Amino acid sequence: MEANMPILGMFPFATLKDQVEKEPERPFIVDVGGGKGQAMLAIETECPKFFGGNVILEDLPIVIDSLKSEDLPGIEPTVHDIFTLQPVKNAHVYFLRRLLHDFYNPVCLEILKNIVPAMGSVFF
Ligand SMILES: C[S@@+](CC[C@H](N)C(=O)[O-])C[C@H]1O[C@@H](n2cnc3c(N)ncnc32)[C@H](O)[C@@H]1O
Repeated sequence: MEANMPILGMFPFATLKDQVEKEPERPFIVDVGGGKGQAMLAIETECPKFFGGNVILEDLPIVIDSLKSEDLPGIEPTVHDIFTLQPVKNAHVYFLRRLLHDFYNPVCLEILKNIVPAMGSVFF
């Protein structure tokens, strides 16, 4: 699976270092439907201690309740159903990996529309 869908190298997370450090009140990454947090643990290897930013791992209770916090240093496991509004506001990144492929396009739109109101403005 990792060979077919690598975690690292798909997005330059480390380039967000200055932005994350400049705005520490903003969560760094929300891993939506993040499973057991493997992707966040991999990303931490190129973003040490997540540059001081919060990282939230969201999934259903059956997944979140199975996790041990000591296995996920610096990561906050949180129950969230993607069919409800995203509760974590203004994060730098909303990360959806191996999630949307499980749903038909209209359902994907519903999932994405639940995230849009949480997103902050982007200034370049
Ligand atoms: C294929 S796994 C991908 C996990 C992780 N993103 C990864 O790349 O390894 C899909 C995940 O979506 C979660 N999921 C499915 N329906 C969900 C829902 N309604 N709300 C939140 N998470 C959901 C599953 O529990 C599962 O952990």
